[in-house]
Amino acid sequence: MNIAVFASGGGSNFQAILDAIRLGALPARACLLLSNLSDAGALNLARERGVPTLYCSRKHYASDQAFADAMLSSLRSSGADFIALAGYLKRVPTPVVAAFRDRISNIHPALLPSFGGHGMFGHHVHEAVIASGAKVSGATVHLVDEEYDRGPIVAQRCVPVLPNDTPDTLAERVLVIEHELYPMTLKAFSEGRVRIDGRRAWIAV
Ligand code: GRF
Repeated sequence: MNIAVFASGGGSNFQAILDAIRLGALPARACLLLSNLSDAGALNLARERGVPTLYCSRKHYASDQAFADAMLSSLRSSGADFIALAGYLKRVPTPVVAAFRDRISNIHPALLPSFGGHGMFGHHVHEAVIASGAKVSGATVHLVDEEYDRGPIVAQRCVPVLPNDTPDTLAERVLVIEHELYPMTLKAFSEGRVRIDGRRAWIAV
């Protein structure tokens, strides 16, 4: 499986994916790192690890269609057959979702379908979890469709929410399991073990 990773931030999930590939735990190749931000840490990491990079921002294109066409053409020339969103803070253009239907995943730092949707990213998620009084949080890997955080859930893991948690301490605990969950789920995709039936998806053993 040739994975194009999309990231807007530091890229610790991207790093976990690259480490899993290097250790032989994920039978795949990272063929592209795409970012909407020219100063994303993930771009530097890709350069260090020899992964082709692309800075691709909507503001450089005259229309949504031109932007989607450029993204699709770069994906095709990279040889990508799967897209893994890893802290990518933009909506994936509809034509790209359509071209990669059921072959785009995202990792979200909470237990969807709660605490997701537009504006629910980074510390906003963990603040909302703590404010809700929930006693567990976690990470979710889901398929990507046209809406933020709405596609079928493929895999989840839980962590406790502790009485003295701040958004930072909870984020740190969740991130540790993200780094295990995402490579493991991508492995299942690469081995053709992810089954999808309408709104439901699961990993076959
Ligand atoms: C992670 O918490 C991920 O769940 C969310 O964005 C964050 C990205 O972190 N979608 P990183 O850039 O991979 O370190």
